[in-house]
Amino acid sequence: MIRKAFNIAITGLILLTMTLTSCKHDRHHPGYVFMPDMCYSEPSDAYTVSHVFSDSLTMRIPVKGTIPRGYTPYPYKAKSYTDQIAAGKELVNPVPVNAETLATGKAQYDIYCMLCHGKKGKGDGHLYTSKKFPMKPTSLVEKYVQGKPDGELYHIVTTGSLSGLMGAHGAQIKSENRWAIINYMRSLAMK
Ligand code: HEC
Repeated sequence: MIRKAFNIAITGLILLTMTLTSCKHDRHHPGYVFMPDMCYSEPSDAYTVSHVFSDSLTMRIPVKGTIPRGYTPYPYKAKSYTDQIAAGKELVNPVPVNAETLATGKAQYDIYCMLCHGKKGKGDGHLYTSKKFPMKPTSLVEKYVQGKPDGELYHIVTTGSLSGLMGAHGAQIKSENRWAIINYMRSLAMK
């Protein structure tokens, strides 16, 4: 019993001493550092030689197969008709058709496609009518385009047309919005 009380008193005394000594009132003194290695980490500049890694690269190369955040790998090759048809067969449009997604599709279409394909998708955009673009962009409301499955249209928007006359839009427009544009293209044909 006495021993227990003694232990408590000793522990209390140690804690009290630690509390009283751990904070210094001197504002110009940062206090004692017991493990400097852990307290102050040594930064390395990106393009310097590393003494830590055996290949001496400070900037690490991402592990093989690493995917940037928000990026979806796209396995179908550009300018390949076989891949375009495969995309048409295999890809499923994940964006439902409703007022909200159609509004998104329209907004994105007006930014990225309208200048060439025109407000109503007839291939009469300003870039063509002002003679700044030499080739008439395909009408998106005719059967030739409308007869293609969503996945094929998605492929065209993502990688560009087979001839390369229309560029790829995969890098500018996020996947979800590319699908939304396709829904909007369908709605243009119904008008
Ligand atoms: C710089 C002008 C330009 C822009 C911007 C553009 N297109 Fe095109 N697009 C064209 C031209 C030109 C063609 C015909 C190219 C060809 O036949 O190779 C075409 C063809 C197409 C085709 C048919 C492709 C085929 O296989 O025949 C589709 C579908 C299409 N565009 C959709 C879109 C959509 C959707 C957008 C917006 C994301 C867009 N385009 C943006 C110029 C453009």
